[in-house]
Amino acid sequence: MGHVHTIDWETLQSSAFEMVRRSYAPYSGYPVGAAAVTIDGRTVTGCNVENVSSGLTLCAETVLVGNLFALGGGRLRAVAVVDGAGRPIAPCGRCRQVLYEHGGPDLLVAGPDGPWTMATLLPHPFGPDDLARRGRPVTTGPERLPGPPAGLPEGHRALGAGETGEPGDGDRGRSDDAGPVR
Ligand code: THU
Repeated sequence: MGHVHTIDWETLQSSAFEMVRRSYAPYSGYPVGAAAVTIDGRTVTGCNVENVSSGLTLCAETVLVGNLFALGGGRLRAVAVVDGAGRPIAPCGRCRQVLYEHGGPDLLVAGPDGPWTMATLLPHPFGPDDLARRGRPVTTGPERLPGPPAGLPEGHRALGAGETGEPGDGDRGRSDDAGPVR
């Protein structure tokens, strides 16, 4: 993926398609893969994980969001969700809400005829601002954490200032004890 400003949809969709192989979908026989790029250029992925108690099934997008936080957190910029043939599918309603939390209305979502925005898929959303209206502040950014954020796991560091993630970018801007960018 690399570059922060342009979305390489082909790469994102093939990362999502790779996740189809890891899917656990013995009941529906409908594997789903998801891949997203964060605003700081990292890729996070997920696949659906079904359960014999059907309502407990995890959609690929919810697993992706779990992986996002397991890998240091951050904001989503673009996401692709694909079926067993690698074709983009529309996220289910619950997953639109789950993705909205971490990408907002500008999150780009792969569609069959080009990207949608989350604003198109989830108009009139219920969001953090609605809770904040109670008069109690809602903190969703890294400042919500009690101490300095833990470093990203090996191989999943956030890009440093001035880094694009392009090959040859070297370690410019890297700081080994920098926390994740959220
Ligand atoms: N599924 C997803 O993983 N994401 C969606 O947005 C739509 C549905 C999964 C859940 C279930 O394992 C299978 O697809 C069939 O519904």
